[in-house]
Amino acid sequence: MTLQALVLLAAAALVQGETANKVRRDAPRGPEAWEAAHSSAAAALAKLSQQDKINIVTGVGWDKGPCVGNTPAIRSINYPQLCLQDGPLGVRFGSSITAFTPGIQAAATWDTDLIRQRGEYMGAEFRGVGVHSQLGPAPGPLGKIAHGGRNWEGFGVDPYLSGIATAQTIEGIQSAGVQATVKHYILNEQELNRETMSSSADDRTIHELYLWPFADAVHSNVASVMCSYNKINGTWACENEHVLNGLLKDELGFPGYVVTDWNAQHSTNDAANNGLDMSMPGSDYNGGNVLWGPALNSAVSSGRVPQSRLDDMVERILAAWYLLGQDANYPSVNLNANVQGNHKENVRAIARDGIVLLKNDDGALPLQKPSKLALVGSHSVANPQGVNACPDKGCNTGALGMGWGSGSVNYPYLVSPYDALKARADADGTTLSLHNSDQTNGVANVVSGADAAIVVITADSGEGYITVEGVVGDRPHLDPWHNGNELVKAVAAANKNTIVVVHSVGPIILENILANEGVKAIVWAGLPSQENGNALVDILYGLTSPSGKLVYTIAKREEDYGTRVVNGDDSFSEGLFIDYRHFDQEKIEPRYEFGFGLSYTTFEYADLEATSTATAGPATGETIPGGAADLWEEVVTVTASITNSGEVDGAEVAQLYLTLPSSAPPSPPKQLRGFAKLKLAAGESGTATFNLRRRDISYWDSGVGQWVVPEGEFGVSVGASSRDIRLTGSFTV
Ligand code: NOJ
Repeated sequence: MTLQALVLLAAAALVQGETANKVRRDAPRGPEAWEAAHSSAAAALAKLSQQDKINIVTGVGWDKGPCVGNTPAIRSINYPQLCLQDGPLGVRFGSSITAFTPGIQAAATWDTDLIRQRGEYMGAEFRGVGVHSQLGPAPGPLGKIAHGGRNWEGFGVDPYLSGIATAQTIEGIQSAGVQATVKHYILNEQELNRETMSSSADDRTIHELYLWPFADAVHSNVASVMCSYNKINGTWACENEHVLNGLLKDELGFPGYVVTDWNAQHSTNDAANNGLDMSMPGSDYNGGNVLWGPALNSAVSSGRVPQSRLDDMVERILAAWYLLGQDANYPSVNLNANVQGNHKENVRAIARDGIVLLKNDDGALPLQKPSKLALVGSHSVANPQGVNACPDKGCNTGALGMGWGSGSVNYPYLVSPYDALKARADADGTTLSLHNSDQTNGVANVVSGADAAIVVITADSGEGYITVEGVVGDRPHLDPWHNGNELVKAVAAANKNTIVVVHSVGPIILENILANEGVKAIVWAGLPSQENGNALVDILYGLTSPSGKLVYTIAKREEDYGTRVVNGDDSFSEGLFIDYRHFDQEKIEPRYEFGFGLSYTTFEYADLEATSTATAGPATGETIPGGAADLWEEVVTVTASITNSGEVDGAEVAQLYLTLPSSAPPSPPKQLRGFAKLKLAAGESGTATFNLRRRDISYWDSGVGQWVVPEGEFGVSVGASSRDIRLTGSFTV
């Protein structure tokens, strides 16, 4: 390289450094952003020794640094000791951080602005504590198994919704200059045997369900992808040529790096040659079994792994670092920094707007300054041992706000249902009595005579390395914990205005609860994190009209889902037919369908219009991050007019479901392909606009190996849920 070229490079690096001083407001987008980052990385690569390169791709070993994952600093290029830290809802092990709402709650708002803001605020916190890579979001598991232990970390069981939420989250995180790591790639749908089992799914199912949100992630320029523990078609995810090189890097054009899940690596050469770029934590949990480091060094010297492959790993990792502008003025690691700012406002908004009102008979809600109110259940109050008494939230004691595992964080505080209701009751002059137990003994005395009785019940789950009350991650059943059904029965027998509040990681079977005549309302309050009680009071008292919608189906019977945790390998034999796609196909009546949620007001739908510029046939665009460029072009616009026809202000999530023409291969009867959340004052009208991209109207053709728009008439259904369809129309391609 000439001296002149070196000077130019140095100047370019300086300019890059200057712009990176400011927290970036806009996430880098498009292939251009990566091109610049890769050329900076290539220039830096040229200065590295072989040992530097090995260090950049290999973690320092378990428990040997400040973060859950660390690589050594490389002084010659000012590369820091890289810090990778969980998780999808905030800074794990941080002591003054915000406990953001879990992904499942964010998704239930169907509010892209709030989801985006959640990402931005999380990014600001990770940056504030000096973390380079946030290990989230987690659109895998998708949640095809209602019992799956970690479904609450993701964005619900529809790939379209999950993809939008994944993209908004990543763009939010990365706008703060923090690398997002999307996980767990791929087909990691249960905790049981996650480190030994093999998942196999057909090509079409992989593309249309499980790969879908990862394509969104890559399109949003996600810095890295975490390969999962399981095998895919018999080959470990972190050394799977088809999954890493084929699908991710070639088909989706992913320019960033693949990092292992912790200890998910099983080989030196195969992992390197088949697409892995970073080994984490670099050893097993005893400090042994170092598969890269010196082993990778000798594999490269002996030619078993090409030098070009090692250089490619390093370039990808450095490119991600440059992409986010982390090469200048990045804070050093301090997990104890107080980074909360005003972020609790986002927690409260999502905790509140993710609440789904399932039932509200006789105008039981909102409450109108009752004179006597009763509150029942041990989950109404904070854990008496302390809100962070159980490491990684490995207990279900007191108010529930998140599941357990590496995806949990410390609460800075927790407002319990009791705390918030008590404050409100005091202000209103309401007498509030509390039965702080899940035992039915004595409950009748507490609730009888009250204007309303509120019972709080829960269901919890998490990551399989922790067992809570005999639950090893996945849920053994879909009933409430701690005597919930019996407790509700006892309360409803003594009070004819019983309101059931559910804090849960996923669906529970509600049939026993609904069998009680005294149950007038069910408030599906999900996982509200630190703002638990405040969000609940906002909805119970009608300060805000409920506007959340279910992001999974609530069945009448567990068997109705058609999927279970498997003991052994999983062939994904249900194919495309998961959750509502399955209920629709098999004509099974759910209790509450995907997309369902009531409001304190009513909405009317009118004037559906659909226009299309789409052409039939396969996508032909050049590959950009996310796949063929034309897949991302908007080709269909559907509009509908929505009117708030009730007495109070509210918000409606209008949903668009698409039915493919008969020329397409057998497909789910309808699939979510658009949604719009409209905030409408009483009497106000607005237009819901759904822009469908080419990918949204395509199916995956395994023969052609491409997304294909089928010819014929597409059915368009717009409504308030997947079954409450208010308008139908069509367009023809
Ligand atoms: C294993 C979990 O599966 C993953 O989500 C997490 O990021 C790592 N452990 C690191 O804690």
